[in-house]
Amino acid sequence: MRVIICGAEGQLGSDLVKVFRSRGEEVFGYDLDLDITDYDLVMEKIPPLRADLLVNTVADIDADRAELDPEPSLKVNFTGNQNLVLACLGCGCAMAFISSDYVFDGRKGSAYNEFDPPNPQGVYGRAKLASERYLASLLPRHFIFRTQWLFGKAGKRNFVKSILRNAREKGGLRVVTDEVGTPTCTADLADTVYRVCSSGKYGLYHATNQGVCSRYDFAREILEIAGWKDIPVEPIRYAELNLPYPRPPYSPLDNMNLRLQGFPLARHYREPLEEYVAWLLEEGGL
Ligand SMILES: NC(=O)c1ccc[n+]([C@@H]2O[C@H](COP(=O)([O-])OP(=O)(O)OC[C@H]3O[C@@H](n4cnc5c(N)ncnc54)[C@H](OP(=O)(O)O)[C@@H]3O)[C@@H](O)[C@H]2O)c1
Repeated sequence: MRVIICGAEGQLGSDLVKVFRSRGEEVFGYDLDLDITDYDLVMEKIPPLRADLLVNTVADIDADRAELDPEPSLKVNFTGNQNLVLACLGCGCAMAFISSDYVFDGRKGSAYNEFDPPNPQGVYGRAKLASERYLASLLPRHFIFRTQWLFGKAGKRNFVKSILRNAREKGGLRVVTDEVGTPTCTADLADTVYRVCSSGKYGLYHATNQGVCSRYDFAREILEIAGWKDIPVEPIRYAELNLPYPRPPYSPLDNMNLRLQGFPLARHYREPLEEYVAWLLEEGGL
């Protein structure tokens, strides 16, 4: 298979490059060298590669900034994806898009499966949902993976790194209790994306690690694994932070379609989290 990964230097993209290459696939990785918001550039670069699959992991994930200034966010999260869909449409390439739990409002009270109606509450979530729908309406051979709370070796920022950096620099933390979800290791997610995409079972999948926790519990676990249990963590409510994006309070993703299609589910998040924190402290350069 000839595979294009967009966002190849990000957390998930870099693991996708590794996983697809390790299975013998021919991979073309692009990041800022192929700005997906540039329609002409996308149309010039993508079709000549004669790829079988394009995976779009590119995003502007700053949901708070998007509430204050929507257009730059929409340009990447919707228009950029639109350009890739149009390029794939023109050259017969299948496409995978990475979406988010932010397509839900988080008020259901239990985990969301693929049959639950979305109800995004802000610009970032609405752009993700619009991109899902645009892709699904134009390319029958598509995959959509909704995921959440990613942590991986590449990329600039994630919750695990922030907790450890802030603990070291400030000596104490305040973390919210009213955002609940599933931390997800990008290497495990890349493995799932590979399995599903190489199966040809097109469609919508919720794909995370297993287990559920609040941001507060997650922070405590990270510190415990790091051996920094004495760092005080004050539990707070999201409202106290006055952030513009209304986070879904409870949005774990039930990986129902993976189960229904007989794919193995990823492991509990604790195991990769232990490996990741150890790696960050030993060689990850916090
Ligand atoms: N991170 C999460 O917790 C989370 C949760 C749910 C869903 N997701 C989704 O999962 C996907 C992967 O997330 P991630 O955390 O791996 O993202 P990431 O680490 O930020 O990777 C995205 C990569 O795309 C690059 N990029 C940004 N704008 C671009 C453009 N216009 N053209 C080409 N490349 C561009 C980024 O470069 P710069 O870093 O220089 O901007 C970065 O290298 C995204 O679709 C995201 O929405 C993420």
